[in-house]
Amino acid sequence: MKTAIYRAPHEEFQYRLLACLMRPSLALRQLWLRLPIGSFRLRLTFDIFPRPHYAYGVFHAAEEARMLGVPRISVIEFGVAGGNGLVALEKIAEEVEKLTGVAIQVFGFDTGRGLPPLRDYRDLPYKWQTGEFAYEAEGVRKRLKRATLIVGDVNETVPKWCAEPSRVPLGFVAIDVDLYHSTVNALRIFEREPEYLLPRVYTYLDDVIFTSRYLGELLAVREWNAAHAHAKIDAITALACSRFFQHRWLAGMFIAHFFEHPRYNDHTGFLDHSGM
Ligand SMILES: C[S@@+](CC[C@H](N)C(=O)[O-])C[C@H]1O[C@@H](n2cnc3c(N)ncnc32)[C@H](O)[C@@H]1O
Repeated sequence: MKTAIYRAPHEEFQYRLLACLMRPSLALRQLWLRLPIGSFRLRLTFDIFPRPHYAYGVFHAAEEARMLGVPRISVIEFGVAGGNGLVALEKIAEEVEKLTGVAIQVFGFDTGRGLPPLRDYRDLPYKWQTGEFAYEAEGVRKRLKRATLIVGDVNETVPKWCAEPSRVPLGFVAIDVDLYHSTVNALRIFEREPEYLLPRVYTYLDDVIFTSRYLGELLAVREWNAAHAHAKIDAITALACSRFFQHRWLAGMFIAHFFEHPRYNDHTGFLDHSGM
């Protein structure tokens, strides 16, 4: 198989040097990332997190919960692979818990065997392959401090998880399962009674860049929206122009709105999404 043409090491060095000279704020951010001092709120403003999208989603979900008087929420990463994202998510949850006083339960869902069999063009077989990102679940669990890893195909694990009555309201979901069919099943997490959902659930979609609305995660979301008259998963309008740094994660940040949720109209005030 042919491989992509990447930058050679000397070109990579040149690129980094030029990028820093042309946009010094990027160099400053890299430095700050290595020494992450400052309050959570300040670091959130300047994206000083390995996964700024998780920090953004968890913080705003907890803020909504606090305004609504909801004492605890859950946050989920769909598609865990080796656990880098889930480890980042649990660290962020710890900080946000201290800041807001809202308790946060963290969950990760993964097959434990990498991508399941791809079914058709909607799963983007030109991009992904069955079995990609396979990691031993036990190895991932050893990296976790507080998150629960749920192993199995989301086709089975999501309905099982939803059937458990003890769950707390969902506040943030990161969907990184790559495939259309997996996303369709992950989105079933939203088909729950309102007491298990915040009226608005922050939803990050990882694979919405350099793709199409007719494939993968975006197609699954469009179909979900068409099937739900009183709920919609929508991009956060004007988010990019209100943030200091322009990052690709901004294109993946959505909110699932449940218009008929009994608390949808409760006043929470204007939540400042820029932090500036
Ligand atoms: C790109 S990786 C996730 C990377 C991870 N979020 C991170 O940031 O490090 C995609 C993961 O989705 C998982 N996945 C895809 N389809 C799935 C399904 N139907 N059920 C459970 N996990 C699935 C794969 O096992 C794979 O580990």
